[in-house]
Amino acid sequence: NMGPDVIDIRNLGKHGVFTYDPGFLSTASCPSAITYIDGEQGLLYYRGYPIEQLAEHSDFLEVAYLLMHGELPDADQRSNFTSTMMKHTMLHDQLTNVFRGFRRDAHPMAVMVGVVGSMSAFYEEVTDVRDPNNRLAAAYHLLAKVPTIAAWSYKYNIGEPFMYPQNHFNYAENFMQMMFATPCEKYEPNPILAKAFERILILHADHEQNASTSTVRLAGSSGANPFACVAAGIASLWGPAHGGANEATLKMLEEMGDVSRIGEFIKRAKDKSDSFRLMGFGHRVYRNMDPRASIMRETCHQVLDELGLHNDPMFKLALKLEQIALEDEYFVNRRLYPNVDFYSGIVMRAMGIPNSMFTAIFALARTAGWVAQWNEMNSDPEAKIGRPRQLYMGATRRDYVPMDGR
Ligand code: ACO
Repeated sequence: NMGPDVIDIRNLGKHGVFTYDPGFLSTASCPSAITYIDGEQGLLYYRGYPIEQLAEHSDFLEVAYLLMHGELPDADQRSNFTSTMMKHTMLHDQLTNVFRGFRRDAHPMAVMVGVVGSMSAFYEEVTDVRDPNNRLAAAYHLLAKVPTIAAWSYKYNIGEPFMYPQNHFNYAENFMQMMFATPCEKYEPNPILAKAFERILILHADHEQNASTSTVRLAGSSGANPFACVAAGIASLWGPAHGGANEATLKMLEEMGDVSRIGEFIKRAKDKSDSFRLMGFGHRVYRNMDPRASIMRETCHQVLDELGLHNDPMFKLALKLEQIALEDEYFVNRRLYPNVDFYSGIVMRAMGIPNSMFTAIFALARTAGWVAQWNEMNSDPEAKIGRPRQLYMGATRRDYVPMDGR
């Protein structure tokens, strides 16, 4: 038994117990066999496999398969899954018109919410979610196409032509190709950067019932269209307290500008009358170092070494901030450590990925978790529509007041 003792409220009577738990700090919303987290000890397992082992030995597609199907694929399953993914990377040609409806300066996450949501209209044949084959097909469509959508949302933003998927690349390299290549030059992925990118995807693939995953589940609990559910997850992920944190971290570092201003920002973060928080620090579940942050920290140094960027002022500033915060009593006492997004933001910045794409990349990684969790919920015959209750705090009964009496 890996988890703490839990009370299954389904055994407590027809209506369960009524609890008020703002932010769901101690309420489980579902049973799940996908991801296990122990925030006190800093453990993260996908289907029982420690994240450290997966980051070291696996790749993103294998991890996506594992999350979805519960087991690592054997050689045949792996090769079939990879070729299925590669076969579905292209988008329906008319989806390019959906991109063109956006302003050029639209944030890539805004474009992703719109384009992924509009997939509902393009792949309607797989949206009867009672059929497990349809669920698998919808999940595979999403896994295969979201990287293309993410990369194209960037290309659209910078006014360059869309780069079509190149299926001789692996999943991570293909995404980088669609983002960075142009039609006139041959793209050669740097193996160290491709590996780092693969790690970002693996580390962000799932994280049990976080805000965006819970959103996908809640939306999907009504039997809603899977593409619309994932679009809702993308919308939730966008917020700065969730997936937007890596973008917010880099914005904060840019605003800080220089090592000499670290003290001023730390002072603001401690000031309870100021809503400012040090971006990239703290986590709802981990009260110890996030295991993903430790892996990403190592990857961060590998990438900075590879690119000779250790002396770049922005990266020096980030590493100094990390050191100061790790020694500061306020952060130590509250067990606020740099989180995975602190380091993934630095890695992506070093790789030349613009800030506005950080959350989009998080979204493409998390699609693996969203579809696995959505499928798990839909496969559970006992799953119910999600319908939280509330603690009503408003006016008591009163009579309508006509306009001349107000
Ligand atoms: N900077 C300064 N103080 C902080 C920070 C921070 N980044 N995070 C938490 N605190 C303080 C709180 O003010 C509070 O202090 P108090 O006890 O004196 O009142 C204490 O630490 C506990 O904080 P909570 O608000 O209870 O923590 P919660 O679990 O609600 O929030 C969260 C977690 C949202 C991640 C928060 O730490 C935060 O806003 N961090 C910055 C944003 C960020 O990096 N988010 C990424 C999350 S990781 C991910 O999505 C992959």
